[in-house]
Amino acid sequence: MKTKKISNLENFSGTILIPVFETSSKSIIPIKFDDIEISSKVFYGKKDTHYLAEKNNNIYLFIGLGKEIDYRSIKTIFRRISSKEIESFPKCVALFIPEQFNDALVEASVSGLLLGTYNLGHYKIKGKHPFLDDHFELEILSTNDHSVIINKAIKIARAQLETLRLVDLPPNKVSPKYLANWAMDKGAKYGFEVEVLGLEACEIQGLGAFLAVGKASQHEPQFIIMKYVPKENEKSLKHIGLLGKGITFDTGGLNIKTAGMLEMKCDMAGGAAVFGAMQLIADLQLPVKITAIVPCAENSVDNKSLLPSDVIHSYSGNSIEIIDTDAEGRLILADGLSYLIKNFEPEYIIDIATLTGSSMGTFGHECAALFTNNEAISKKLQKVGDAIGERLWPLPLWDVYKQDIESDIADVKNYSGKPLAGAISAAKFLEYFTQDHPAWAHLDIAGVAFGDDEFAKSKHATAYGVQLLTQFIEEL
Ligand code: BES
Ligand code: ZN
Ligand code: ZN
Repeated sequence: MKTKKISNLENFSGTILIPVFETSSKSIIPIKFDDIEISSKVFYGKKDTHYLAEKNNNIYLFIGLGKEIDYRSIKTIFRRISSKEIESFPKCVALFIPEQFNDALVEASVSGLLLGTYNLGHYKIKGKHPFLDDHFELEILSTNDHSVIINKAIKIARAQLETLRLVDLPPNKVSPKYLANWAMDKGAKYGFEVEVLGLEACEIQGLGAFLAVGKASQHEPQFIIMKYVPKENEKSLKHIGLLGKGITFDTGGLNIKTAGMLEMKCDMAGGAAVFGAMQLIADLQLPVKITAIVPCAENSVDNKSLLPSDVIHSYSGNSIEIIDTDAEGRLILADGLSYLIKNFEPEYIIDIATLTGSSMGTFGHECAALFTNNEAISKKLQKVGDAIGERLWPLPLWDVYKQDIESDIADVKNYSGKPLAGAISAAKFLEYFTQDHPAWAHLDIAGVAFGDDEFAKSKHATAYGVQLLTQFIEEL
């Protein structure tokens, strides 16, 4: 989507989007814009309402914002307008920027408009959203120049659209190889390096916990490593390690899921958030160094399946007793963490994963569970999350929970065997492989990565994490 600034509507003919802050249903002053007047009896800017008017061949789409508006709500409102009012968009569309709009609100509205082009019907014969037409230009009606923030808003939405698509496409299309190809394509396009370890390379490296998970699948596992440094490479850049769970489908393995399996194409949503963040960080040319790993595998079933009670050997050298083959995410992340720390020594490490049903049981779909012993990281992640509506809330990493993963036969076990404190014991398992890294955080996004909303009939991706990770890194 391209944009162009205009300072008046003199030569404009088309649809004008006009955000309106709430006045009052009893206000005697009508809402006015360019010779149109709307009585407050029919529209007064109430949140989630809109009003269409037509004059001189122009369509005026007044958009109610309520009295105060937050980043996430405005993004949703503009996504709704863009996705549900398609018939009101002829060739030309202008967005009026009210004077009260700060950079964040401009960013959220433009990102929302572009996100509204997302259509879940990837395998349906369908027309292109008008905003995606090569010739389309969104005209920005404003006295000020917002071009920097608008360009950023478009990059954010483009990265989020990629993540939405990767998560929503079915697991027979999005295999580990598909994700490796995605990373290589985008690496070449946006400027980050990609290295992919296939089965043989992983065996040579000794990524035993990762390989154990994927071994009953027809799809070869792929351990994807991405490296970004800005084009203008300065010295003393902060080095951040990212790690995302890339299970392209989670059947549960031999401990096969008896509930919720249909949704398990979302089990690579942490990985997809890391992919989206890599695209965005490179697109924005942020002055940081990133090493990101997405171990990708399918947790399936056949005669080579991992068995409950098997003992496997991880990259770190530690042995792991398998209590439940459905606790597979922590196995691939254990090797991801060890590999990241041993080979790249990042200063900060954030992992993001649809790790436990327990985190969803605790927080529902409202926020992700955050685990870290680093106060500064915890505060900053929460601050960014609150600002953009990708919220997080901390849970403890107390050592009393260590006993949940103590094994008699091996160094550690992958599950306590009891349906208690599941998100915490999973985090303790990951912590075991961090070598007491002083700046590690784990984000359990099982409840927020995939859900119901007004944009489709079935559950679908949210792109949670793309902007959170990027903005956190930007503000470090
Ligand atoms: N992928 C699931 C977690 C999940 C649940 C993601 C719901 C998204 C929505 C994970 O691999 C899993 O199966 N976890 C089990 C672990 C248990 C067997 C120790 C869980 O949380 O029930
Ligand atoms: Zn599982
Ligand atoms: Zn899983």
